Amino acid sequence: MALYEFDGKRPSVPTDSFVHPAAVLIGDVRLGHECLIAPGVSIRAEFGPAEIGNRSNIQDNSTIHVNPDMRVIIEDNVVIAHGVILHDVHIKARCVIGMGAILMFNVVCAEDVIVAAGSLVPKGLQIPAGKIVSGNPAEIIRDVSEKQKLMAREGVDAYCDLCRKYLATMKLVG
Ligand SMILES: CC(C)(COP(=O)(O)OP(=O)(O)OC[C@H]1O[C@@H](n2cnc3c(N)ncnc32)[C@H](O)[C@@H]1OP(=O)(O)O)[C@@H](O)C(=O)NCCC(=O)NCCS
Repeated sequence: MALYEFDGKRPSVPTDSFVHPAAVLIGDVRLGHECLIAPGVSIRAEFGPAEIGNRSNIQDNSTIHVNPDMRVIIEDNVVIAHGVILHDVHIKARCVIGMGAILMFNVVCAEDVIVAAGSLVPKGLQIPAGKIVSGNPAEIIRDVSEKQKLMAREGVDAYCDLCRKYLATMKLVG
């Protein structure tokens, strides 16, 4: 794993979470249990903490950074899809942040929010629980359906399974 201590703070990764060797975690990164951090992810927490809850996954090439006096909080059972950019955000339980979304400074997603793929969520936007936001700038477009909540749960479960399989079976072979 590429975990780097910075200014006396080092990432904390429980043994039941998987961080791919091609991901980079720097400084005050606090990972929960059964998380999966995919290749190409960069989490830089030099200025403040980045906390990631249990059973959350951060997919390939996503970037998380924390400004001075700020923090990033990602709660439990969250999906951060491929190529997402997050800065000083608070993402509550069971949210899905779609592929390629950018969430600007101080965005708060309450529980069960879906951010549509490719959206740009402007700074400070507070998204109420169970809403879908989409667009540039992103706006609330409708409620998350029960089917979409179920799909989000299944996505989390699939990534927890992947986490266990990566821990048990992944080998560098070339
Ligand atoms: C926004 C989203 C939740 C909508 O899903 P949905 O309710 O099933 O909507 P549909 O696919 O039926 O599309 C409905 C409309 O929204 C548009 N749309 C869908 N996704 C969109 C997006 N990301 N941005 C802008 N418009 C979008 C569709 O083109 C369609 O437009 P139309 O009515 O003019 O034809 C979904 O498309 C999305 O982006 N989910 C995130 C996916 C993701 O990245 N998951 C993580 C995978 S690892």
